[in-house]
Amino acid sequence: MSKITHQHNIETRRIRFGINFDLPKYWNQNCPVKTHMFNAVAMLAPAFERLAITSVLPYQAQITDAVLKQQVQGFIGQESSHGSEFIRMQSVLKKQGYDPRQVEKKNVKRFVAFSSALSPEMHLSFTLAAEHVTAIISDLLLTDKQWLENAEPKVAALWRWHAIEEIDHKAVVFDLYQSLGLGYWTRMKGMLRMTFVLNVFLMANYCHLAKKDGLLYKPSFWFKTLWILWGKPGFVRKQFWAYLSYFSPKFHPWKKNNHNLIEAFKRAFARDPNLNVIDFLNK
Ligand SMILES: [Fe+2]
Ligand SMILES: [Fe+2]
Repeated sequence: MSKITHQHNIETRRIRFGINFDLPKYWNQNCPVKTHMFNAVAMLAPAFERLAITSVLPYQAQITDAVLKQQVQGFIGQESSHGSEFIRMQSVLKKQGYDPRQVEKKNVKRFVAFSSALSPEMHLSFTLAAEHVTAIISDLLLTDKQWLENAEPKVAALWRWHAIEEIDHKAVVFDLYQSLGLGYWTRMKGMLRMTFVLNVFLMANYCHLAKKDGLLYKPSFWFKTLWILWGKPGFVRKQFWAYLSYFSPKFHPWKKNNHNLIEAFKRAFARDPNLNVIDFLNK
C-alpha cells in the first residue's frame, strides 16, 4: 500500500443553493457562451459523477488503509451530493425550455453500457482522468475571477462550492489507483479515452442548448465560443499545461498545491453552514 499523501478527512456537506426557477436565461454575464459552457457541464455532471462512484465501489472492500478508506467514502459522498445539486439545476434549465432530463437519461444509459464494456481497472483510470480535468477546471474557476464574475450569485456559489470540493478530493482516486499497483499506461489510456468521451458529450449538450436558442447555425455564436475557449479569455487554452502534467510518470494531483483554496472555505463553512457560505463563495 502506497503512502497516502494528504491525510485530511473528506467531508460530505449538503448545501442547498436555492436557485430560483425565474433564473435569467443567460445567467452568466448575460452571455450565451459563458452561460451554456456551464449549463452543458451541469447537464452531464450527474451521469459522469455516477460513473465515477461506480468505478471505486468494487475496490472499497480491498482498502486496508483507514485514511484512504475514509477518503473514498468521502469522495462518494461528495460526488453524490454534487449530482443532486446539478439535478436541481437541471430542473431550472427545464423550466427555461431546454430538455436536460431527457439528455441526462440518455447519458446515464450510455454510460452504463460504456462502463460495463470497460475492465474495472480501465473504469477506475477513466475516473482518475476525469478527476484531474475537473480539478484543473476548478482551480481556474477559483483563481481567475472573470469566469463567474457578475454571474447570478446563487449559481456562481454552486459552481464555486463544486470547485472547492473537487479540489478537496482530487487525489483520492489517484491514491486508490496507486495503492492497487495499477500502472502508467493504463492511466494514459484512461486519459485519452476520457478526453474523447468528455468532449463529445459536452459538445452534444452545448449544441442542444444552442439549438433551442436558435444559435446553432449562427457563425457569430461559434466564433465567440472559439474565442472564449481558445482565444484571449481562453478557458480551455489556460488549462493546457495543467492538462499535460498528467502525462508525466511522476504526476501527483497535490504537486499543484492549492490547499489554501479549500482551507478558507472550510473555516467559513464551520462558522456557518448556510447562507454565509454562499456569500463567502461569491467573494
Ligand atoms: Fe463533482
Ligand atoms: Fe470529483
